[in-house]
Amino acid sequence: MPGFSCYEVRSEFPELERGIVYLDNAASTLKPRRVVEAMREFSYRSYANVHRGVHRLSMEASKAYEDAHEVVARLVGGSWDEVVFTRNTTEAMQLAALTLAYNGLLRGGEVLVTAADHHSTLLPWVRAARLGGGRARILPLDGRGVPRWDLLEDYITEDTRAVAVGHVSNVTGAVAPVEDIVKAAKRVGALVVLDSAQGVPHLPVDFRRMGVDMAAFSGHKMLGPTGIGVLWARRDLLEELEPPLGGGGTVSRVRLQGGSVEIEWEEPPWKFEAGTPPIIEAVGLAEAADMLMEIGMEHVARHEDELTSHTMKLLEPLYSEGLIRYVGPDKPGERHGIVSITTHLKSPDELGLLLDRRGIAVRTGLHCAHILHDHVDASMGSVRASFYIYNCKEDAERLAEALEEILTTRR
Ligand SMILES: Cc1ncc(COP(=O)(O)O)c(C=O)c1O
Repeated sequence: MPGFSCYEVRSEFPELERGIVYLDNAASTLKPRRVVEAMREFSYRSYANVHRGVHRLSMEASKAYEDAHEVVARLVGGSWDEVVFTRNTTEAMQLAALTLAYNGLLRGGEVLVTAADHHSTLLPWVRAARLGGGRARILPLDGRGVPRWDLLEDYITEDTRAVAVGHVSNVTGAVAPVEDIVKAAKRVGALVVLDSAQGVPHLPVDFRRMGVDMAAFSGHKMLGPTGIGVLWARRDLLEELEPPLGGGGTVSRVRLQGGSVEIEWEEPPWKFEAGTPPIIEAVGLAEAADMLMEIGMEHVARHEDELTSHTMKLLEPLYSEGLIRYVGPDKPGERHGIVSITTHLKSPDELGLLLDRRGIAVRTGLHCAHILHDHVDASMGSVRASFYIYNCKEDAERLAEALEEILTTRR
């Protein structure tokens, strides 16, 4: 594929016509017309509940819903029956963590998390470890807020049952060394669960080839709608493990036998999708995944790397004068698609509001990573710019110009 142009894709995103420089992509990306159209068309023409009926609308809806699993599987490597639809990454991580706890896999052992992790990874795993009769162990951070991956061999021991870590930090943009993590975990038979909320939307991934056991991500961070996320898990794990959530859609047969309820579970992924699933959202997510595959994830990744480098180069004068500080690495090659800064001149919210007045949307605050911010002495939070396919270098320039104006103009 000959590459792609951010200028060409911009027309798919009507919100950009308002002239806003949208740099809040790590929180949620904009939705292209074709995703909204696919959901609208499906809602008007083929909508019904899935897997519950023989009438044609239900059959069409079921087919579309099943196809969505297939498309998403193609994006991340793996087969359609390894894709469990959830509400978001947070719910996917709870599902993964509770599944291991429910099946006794955490008892008496440790789950390794890092102090940089998003609360959606940290909290489910810390709590599931407790619930499952185990404990969490926390990999510490270096001075930049990046996990001390060099200590992996010390922190992953015979007691480790699972390693649940972020793939790409939503604050520092640092990419985890997945190969090393998998190698260290496999040595002791521990499972690797990846929070890929900032991975799948931005990098080429093939979970099977990477050797991870489970991974979570969200539709709304990758051009898709809100209300749908994914837990990808190895087929044999889904087959073996009992789901912690039961209900409609998860069972093939339920019988009353000798006064007790006997359950025959459905095949994966259905046994993990309790209740009516996000059907319309699945159609939207599949359309989003198709668009990303048409562009090519290697192009998405390269484009974001270029924008990150360009932004940091433009911010160099502010950085070298000590007017801004990076949360995370100060070298562009060490962070992917995310530039988070602090300044002693303004609080993060104040800076965010001043940028908004100039038409620039960034995220401010602690980004659900309180421990990381405390560690790097930024307990008020940071200002985060995060890029996606429709950001062009002019967006980085508008950001840098606005920051310079705000931070260097005396009033
Ligand atoms: C790294 C990471 N993990 C998890 C989440 C939670 O995603 P969601 O709110 O879609 O569950 C986010 C969202 O900001 C994130 O950046």
